[in-house]
Amino acid sequence: MSFPVHRLRRLRKTELLRGLVRETPLSGANFVYPMFVRPGSNIRQEVSSMPGVFQQSADKIVEDCREVELLGIPGVILFGLPETKDARGASSLQKDGVVQRAIEAIRKAKLNLIVITDVCLCEYTDHGHCGVIENGEVANDATLGILAEQALSHARAGADIVAPSDMMDGRVGAIRETLDEHKFENIAILSYAAKYCSGFYGPFREAAQSAPQFGDRRSYQMDPGNVREALKEVELDLEEGADMVMVKPALAYLDVIRRVRDAFDVPVGAYNVSGEYAMVKAAAQKGWLDEQRVVLEIVTGIQRAGAEIILTYHAKDVARWLKAC
Ligand code: PBG
Repeated sequence: MSFPVHRLRRLRKTELLRGLVRETPLSGANFVYPMFVRPGSNIRQEVSSMPGVFQQSADKIVEDCREVELLGIPGVILFGLPETKDARGASSLQKDGVVQRAIEAIRKAKLNLIVITDVCLCEYTDHGHCGVIENGEVANDATLGILAEQALSHARAGADIVAPSDMMDGRVGAIRETLDEHKFENIAILSYAAKYCSGFYGPFREAAQSAPQFGDRRSYQMDPGNVREALKEVELDLEEGADMVMVKPALAYLDVIRRVRDAFDVPVGAYNVSGEYAMVKAAAQKGWLDEQRVVLEIVTGIQRAGAEIILTYHAKDVARWLKAC
């Protein structure tokens, strides 16, 4: 039986009805807000290609985190802009490094927030690659120990979750082992498992000052044409001890999010990255798009694709809009 007995428009008549039958209701409870920490104090500098996103000193990060908490967003992910860079990313391991200090400041403020840290070398190396360089190449195995040390120092500073984004093979296992050896067996790993080599990271590299100084990241990040390989990446990271996995970027990879969601019984995250944010902001500033409407549509789409955790620079805006509803 179909029309005129069936009329799907009956359930679209009012917002109350639409809300009642909505399959993918949004809530701020699934968001993670990314933040960029820099040295110093009282510094809050906007990233030109990401309006509304700031590089901030730890004191300002704490203020911003207070707002994040008030908005009901459960967590933040921290990226560091260190004072110094070298070939091996030594500044990422310091007890008083930028990220470590920011974590401590957030902890001291006793905020009810999950603190996640991005674990990678690109923000800390002078060459801007995510691993150390040997014979002109990004060396996999020689990078693992440094990543594990970095994760350990974040855990010591008080992080709840570490999120390796470097795409070296074996890094999840190396991090898990080091954390466990030092009695941090309750620190979780959110792995950037399926991280593609993407042009959508462009604005982030301004925000985090992490652009590679030679070559590109194709030898370690995934080829955009692949999805079976993403499943393999996820499988291996889970075997090595990842508690949650992530697909990144989100919008050009919604099929990958869905495939990962269907294939594995762990929480799946998606990173709505800097370029995805910048496109919306730029078009909205020109008056070409209704920002609120498209952002809500984008995060709904990412959730509908199967992500239960969404890392997005829009998080505070979305939470505000949802509160106002
Ligand atoms: C570091 C890292 C990157 C992003 C998150 N962690 C950049 C890169 O791999 O070049 C991108 C985030 C974004 O674009 O918002 N490896």
